[in-house]
Amino acid sequence: MTPTDTTSTRRTILRGLAAGAALPVAGAAMAAEGALAGLPKSPAGSAQEIATDQAYWAAVRRLYAVTPDIVNLENGYWGVMPEPVRREFMRQTEMVNRENSYYARQRFGADFEAVRVKVAEAVGATPQEIALTRGATEALQLLIGGYNRLKPGDAVLYADLDYDSMQYAMNALKTRRGVDVVKFNIPEPATRQAVLDAYASALEANPRTRLLLVTHVSHRTGLVMPVAEIVRMAKARGIDTIIDAAHSWGQIDIKVGDIESDFIGFNLHKWIGAPLGIGFLYVRKDRLDSIDRDMGDEDFAESDIRSRVHTGTMNFATVLTVPTAIAVHQEIGAAAKQARLRHFRDSWVSRAREFKRLEILTPDEPGLYGAITSFRLAGKTSKADNEAIVAKLRDEHKVLTVRRAGVANGQCVRVTPALYTTEADLDRLVEALAVVTGSKPG
Ligand SMILES: Cc1ncc(COP(=O)(O)O)c(C=O)c1O
Repeated sequence: MTPTDTTSTRRTILRGLAAGAALPVAGAAMAAEGALAGLPKSPAGSAQEIATDQAYWAAVRRLYAVTPDIVNLENGYWGVMPEPVRREFMRQTEMVNRENSYYARQRFGADFEAVRVKVAEAVGATPQEIALTRGATEALQLLIGGYNRLKPGDAVLYADLDYDSMQYAMNALKTRRGVDVVKFNIPEPATRQAVLDAYASALEANPRTRLLLVTHVSHRTGLVMPVAEIVRMAKARGIDTIIDAAHSWGQIDIKVGDIESDFIGFNLHKWIGAPLGIGFLYVRKDRLDSIDRDMGDEDFAESDIRSRVHTGTMNFATVLTVPTAIAVHQEIGAAAKQARLRHFRDSWVSRAREFKRLEILTPDEPGLYGAITSFRLAGKTSKADNEAIVAKLRDEHKVLTVRRAGVANGQCVRVTPALYTTEADLDRLVEALAVVTGSKPG
């Protein structure tokens, strides 16, 4: 399919949604009457040009009903639903509550399967490679815990920037699989080459490594790893990678093939904007036998990826809303979204770099950042230091950020804009940082 075909198919689907037509992707239960009505029309031009089209983004912003009480720059936690998605979620919640187990017993199975097919298509995989989960945590725990190619005496590796609970899951492999667990640090400030060198040295220093965990977009600093190069480097040594893509799909414009790993855990409730409680795992078709089946499943065939996940009862409405979230994401466009988020990040970072004592931890190097960037005040590395900064920003300037721990060189503060952010929001942040750094009297 050419990009034009994709766009026109998308438009047809969106028109279908707006008209309440039955969707081929998920059947009549998925038809979202009027769900996308009012979605602004994407302007023509490159992603870069679209990124600064004020009228367009003002219209996009109106899709988000968020509190005016605070400038929320803590959008790394999860992604608030745009109104068409929220309305669809409410509609599906009402439907499920009304139709009850009659719906769940008669129709949910087919609808669930249609959602899996939709997700696979959107992320560039086949349905045989995707299984839905309740989030990236569940996906990654199943991949890390289920990876069955380790022998006692092998080593597994991860870095300081990886997510805490994924580090813990890797640590658990010591007792479960009898392996050595090695942690190394990502250099700061990071450059593409320095990051690649750090992975190369860690692999060189640990020749028994068989499994490497890599976080595609760090939740601590927003650093976007050169993930495909790292995966290739590992593969060349016969090492498998598990990629934590909890933050990447939707924040940056990628598909499964760009990551190149055989095992990836994704979220749908962060940058795709689906309701809370949904993610998925990807296992490349010919690698399924490297992941154990879920101990809670004896129903699916060994060769079926769905045997690798057993969630129990899920929130049906959450699952049913995923196609609408994907449709909105695709209509705005992954490239335009990425460009807009980077534009926001550049807008505050370029000004904040002028402030004495303020260290930006996320490099400006193209490809190494998305929406998220963290900063630290020189020498302020403790929990208390950074909590105090977050409190000042929140209580005195009405700007919400979050403290992040776990970076080898010390704690920091993370700033994450969203599509509903405005230039004025970022002006407020920059003003606040000027005061906090002492560059301007308070
Ligand atoms: C890098 C990373 N990995 C994994 C997760 C876990 O995602 P969830 O809690 O949505 O399952 C998060 C959540 O913030 C994350 O930032």
